[in-house]
Amino acid sequence: MRHDRAPLFETVLNHAKNRVVSFHTPGHKNGRGIDRRLRQFTGRNLYYMDVTVFPEVDSLHDPVGPIKKAQQLMAMAYGVEHSFFLVNGSSVANMIMLMSACRPGDSVIISRNAHKSTMAGVILSGVWPIWIQPKVDQNLDILFDSSPEQIEEALRLFPEAKAVFVTSPTYNGVTADLVKIKEICRARGKILLVDEAHGPHLKFHKDLPVSAVEAGADMCGQSTHKILSALSQGSVVHLQSDLIDVTRVRKVVSLLQTTSPNYLILSSLDAARRQAVLEGERILERVIRYAENARKRINQMKNVNSFSRNDILARGYDLDVTKLTVNVTRTGLSGHEIEDILAEKYKVQVDAADLFNLIAIMGIGSDKSDVDRLVDALADIDHKYKGGAQNWVLQIPELTTEMVMNPRDVFLMQKSKRVPLSKAVGQISAQTLTPYPPGIPVLIPGERITKEIVNYLADLSDKDIRVVGQEGDALRTIKVVAAR
Ligand SMILES: Cc1ncc(COP(=O)(O)O)c(C=O)c1O
Repeated sequence: MRHDRAPLFETVLNHAKNRVVSFHTPGHKNGRGIDRRLRQFTGRNLYYMDVTVFPEVDSLHDPVGPIKKAQQLMAMAYGVEHSFFLVNGSSVANMIMLMSACRPGDSVIISRNAHKSTMAGVILSGVWPIWIQPKVDQNLDILFDSSPEQIEEALRLFPEAKAVFVTSPTYNGVTADLVKIKEICRARGKILLVDEAHGPHLKFHKDLPVSAVEAGADMCGQSTHKILSALSQGSVVHLQSDLIDVTRVRKVVSLLQTTSPNYLILSSLDAARRQAVLEGERILERVIRYAENARKRINQMKNVNSFSRNDILARGYDLDVTKLTVNVTRTGLSGHEIEDILAEKYKVQVDAADLFNLIAIMGIGSDKSDVDRLVDALADIDHKYKGGAQNWVLQIPELTTEMVMNPRDVFLMQKSKRVPLSKAVGQISAQTLTPYPPGIPVLIPGERITKEIVNYLADLSDKDIRVVGQEGDALRTIKVVAAR
């Protein structure tokens, strides 16, 4: 087993080069049947790699050949016992982790700003979520995931919890103190699951924060496609645990994945691992330098700024500096508006935006000219838009929520009904409602609707603030559990 080999990628590539006649799926038959304009743009080669399960290229569901070897090399690269290739992103990793670690009725401590796929995992696994409210930082206009102290307190209140689920890094690149969190979990025999969708590269450079596997997480999911060089949807779930049974993980991974995985995605995971091990440190060194130079230039501008690693360390967290969160509040425009200007006028697309910030993320393929394009565009915008500061404030409403029904039971139940907001007090929510900002659900299926929650939602509706989950142009009704 050598890291300069990529057994799956090499097998699929050789198969493609051999121009084998296809009497298997997919139907485009080595690209011949692909829409002409698409093929003209892409060329035909890659379609020869779009194969299906047969002995030469191995099976994702029962790997015995090149996929098995490629997964073993992935596990070696991260220093874990087992790694599983995924073709549905870290979304499926979150479902896999909860379903592998827990049984229906177990409770799990989760930060309320977890990615929406976590809720899918909660429903599929049948766990009771114990929500931790993220912390708001009104100086940086971002949210912080669970701190060790919050997790310790939650475990004191709910000692029966089976697992702790942490998102690290967040969208902004902020990582939690996973070493401390692991200590807390280990001392109490709790499983630590980490959504590390944004951190597949952390392990490959010393100047990046401690990764989940290095901190000793029992399981973590990584979007190899987000930062390293896998194609979109290419992710991995890693396992290193005495508390989770590998046979169960294998079953769950198989249960949740297609029987027709895309071999280009699978091959790209194998090639991305080889690249990360052999060249990751050198490439990341460069990317870190570009990002830090960009941050420095941005912080010399008048109306935009980007927090530094020291800013985040001072708050008890760490930062992956390859992610630039650019605060634009002093321009007088929202992050969304600047995102549009950047895309339309400067042909620069960022990863995400909210009222306060843009998030520009770098990856293994970022180069200096791209970074200069972003920073030059921001400098131009900084010059042109000097509007007064907006008085938006990032805050989480002080609402107490109580889960009275398991989200899975709500999902499976036959009966729900829509009621006017004013009639919803005392009922159980059958839907998730998430206002942006702050992007934290006010209600989750299974939670009791209180008068305070209704008043808060009605106020948002009066102010024309759109709530994700609302039906129609205004939030006038809410879906609740119908009496059984
Ligand atoms: C924190 C977090 N977890 C999970 C996911 C899902 O990852 P994927 O897009 O690879 O399915 C995302 C996607 O943006 C995310 O931000």
